[in-house]
Amino acid sequence: MAATGDRLADSKQKLLWCGRLFCVPDKFIRYHHKRMAKYLVTGAAGFIGSSLVRALLERGEQVRGIDNFSTGRRENLSEVLHRIDFREADILDLEAMHQACAGVDYVLHEAAIPSVPKSVLDPLASNRANVDGTVNVLVAARDAKVKRVVYAASSSAYGDTPALPKHEAMIPNPISPYAVAKLASELYMVSFYRCYGLETVSLRYFNVFGPRQDPSSPYSGVLARFSMQMLRGEQPTIFGDGTTSRDFTYIDNAVSANLLACAAPAAECAGRVFNCATSQRTTLNQTFDALKKLTGYKGSVKYGPERGGDIQHSLADITQAQKHLGYKVLVNFADGLRPTVEWYKNQARTVEA
Ligand SMILES: NC(=O)c1ccc[n+]([C@@H]2O[C@H](COP(=O)([O-])OP(=O)(O)OC[C@H]3O[C@@H](n4cnc5c(N)ncnc54)[C@H](O)[C@@H]3O)[C@@H](O)[C@H]2O)c1
Repeated sequence: MAATGDRLADSKQKLLWCGRLFCVPDKFIRYHHKRMAKYLVTGAAGFIGSSLVRALLERGEQVRGIDNFSTGRRENLSEVLHRIDFREADILDLEAMHQACAGVDYVLHEAAIPSVPKSVLDPLASNRANVDGTVNVLVAARDAKVKRVVYAASSSAYGDTPALPKHEAMIPNPISPYAVAKLASELYMVSFYRCYGLETVSLRYFNVFGPRQDPSSPYSGVLARFSMQMLRGEQPTIFGDGTTSRDFTYIDNAVSANLLACAAPAAECAGRVFNCATSQRTTLNQTFDALKKLTGYKGSVKYGPERGGDIQHSLADITQAQKHLGYKVLVNFADGLRPTVEWYKNQARTVEA
């Protein structure tokens, strides 16, 4: 982020040296930065995609975004929409993807139907968006000679292998159609590097959470859902006995992993898969207790039957990402939880007002 400030300060100085102005219009900043890289974010209106868009804009990069609003929301981009080249399009539309990839240096591919239960209900739809969609993105990126594609892979690829922590050399053992689709896309990433030389990096996200994660559906991530329910005084349900654990990863860590995956030398990362997590795990019971303190919820939790396709424990080994991408955990679980709950509090107030 400091680099952005430096660049902006630099552009201001030069413009002042010419003795021309006191404030810097957007178009001058865009002109001055025209040699900055151009990024395409697929799924730009989603939780992680919209966070990537903001981080890229803060660095002064040029951003194009596409989304079909199947789960994403225009409001996620509200104050930055005018600063990006946004296109409402489906990654299943190859022509739209060819147009979206034209002139792009890096693709951050986030678009997907990101839900285990939805994939169990409708595996065909999951496969279309999460596999066919990815192949379209790759074909378009290859044809446009994009420098690198960074893919939002998933820890669900590990499935219920009992060994912890999960490391990238383990044989994947996906359970749900969603996990199979995410793994298939990862393999396509590797294949496009091997067959066409398109540089690809897959980041296996472990339970990413933070502001703008959609809390509104039963398919939402557990932290988003619980935060909103508890702020409203509604009783949350834990599926299982609550000893299920997750490596909850605050959004800033995932954003930084993407930026590092674009910048790392090809010899370190091209055609490879990396865990993106914190290497700490928290049970759902502990999560409920932590949220109780932050939300002021006075009630208890309800326990329900386990859900098909869910895995019991999840914890990442992050040494490969540290070694090859220079990845570091920037924000731990507790420090990420506070701004997250604050954001849901503001959302709840806005809805009430
Ligand atoms: N959030 C997590 O914990 C997590 C964990 C592992 C992997 N991932 C992956 O990260 C990515 C982003 O997830 P998220 O949590 O931000 O979910 P999200 O639902 O907020 O974002 C996904 C975005 O993709 C868009 N999209 C879906 N299908 C599309 C299509 N066919 N064409 C264009 N846009 C489409 C949606 O409208 C949405 O904006 C997904 O690929 C997901 O599988 C997320």
